[in-house]
Amino acid sequence: MLDNRVILICPVCANPLNQYNKSYSCLNNHAFDKAKQGYVNLLLANQKKTLQPGDNKEMVASRLAFLKQDYYLSISEALNTVISKIISLKTHNHHLHIADLGCGVGYYLSALKKYLSLNECLAEYWGIDISKEAIHSASQYDKTISWLVGSTKTLPFAPQSVDILLSVFAPIYPEEVKRILAPNGRIFVITPASSHLLELRKLLFEQVKESDSEKILQKMNGFFELVDTVPVRSSIHLTSKNEIENLLKMTPFYWKSNLTKKMELLSLNELTVTIDINIWIFQHKQSKLS
Ligand SMILES: C[S@@+](CC[C@H](N)C(=O)[O-])C[C@H]1O[C@@H](n2cnc3c(N)ncnc32)[C@H](O)[C@@H]1O
Ligand SMILES: [Zn+2]
Repeated sequence: MLDNRVILICPVCANPLNQYNKSYSCLNNHAFDKAKQGYVNLLLANQKKTLQPGDNKEMVASRLAFLKQDYYLSISEALNTVISKIISLKTHNHHLHIADLGCGVGYYLSALKKYLSLNECLAEYWGIDISKEAIHSASQYDKTISWLVGSTKTLPFAPQSVDILLSVFAPIYPEEVKRILAPNGRIFVITPASSHLLELRKLLFEQVKESDSEKILQKMNGFFELVDTVPVRSSIHLTSKNEIENLLKMTPFYWKSNLTKKMELLSLNELTVTIDINIWIFQHKQSKLS
């Protein structure tokens, strides 16, 4: 059943945004044109810290090349399984809205859409990222999803409008997530666990920092309650310099490591790397009285 929930709101005045042909506008005539690739840019100039915020062209190209080879398939598959289980547990009598916050090139959201469509789940999909380059790439990859340039800090979604939210290795602002998450909704957050890409980090840094895999709990605490945590562990084998370079360039380590170490890493012809991540599932805090 289709619903007529308002999902998109104007980033200037927060009134509903309506689509007319190739443009979106609100009752105050704030208008946003669709790019010819089909995405819409809802990022206001005052939401940008730099001229081109988020991942740049080179990082986006590396991420796309790496993900296209399905090196992170285990993560995507685990996410699809966990989400479809949660959806089937709930009796939804309405059309679901699913949004990926900081979606990058749209790898996880596109895969989720394919998976849920096979399982006959009716839903509408939204991918948002602050990087125009990333959204440009995503919109070429999958034209059936609504792609938006925007910030996760001030999301152009109506209050309590989205049922399923994803945040995969992306910045998250719990207060804003709480505002847009539907009352029975869930957010699925993917963060690295302690051994994630450990071999790569060992090659790049003298001292490998212990990553605080539970930091997300402190961040979400006070806004949400934890429903479950699903760990995903596997290992991937990169078989060319190019693949190693793609992985390096899509991580923050590329900027944080020194040149000598980077050159050493990039001289390798193959590398086995551990994948170690957690999927954290959160929901609104339940009232003690209900
Ligand atoms: C590590 S990448 C992850 C991308 C994607 N989720 C994936 O795993 O393939 C982080 C993403 O967050 C985006 N990003 C950074 N700050 C953001 C913000 N304030 N709002 C929206 N996206 C942001 C970047 O442009 C980048 O695409
Ligand atoms: Zn407006």
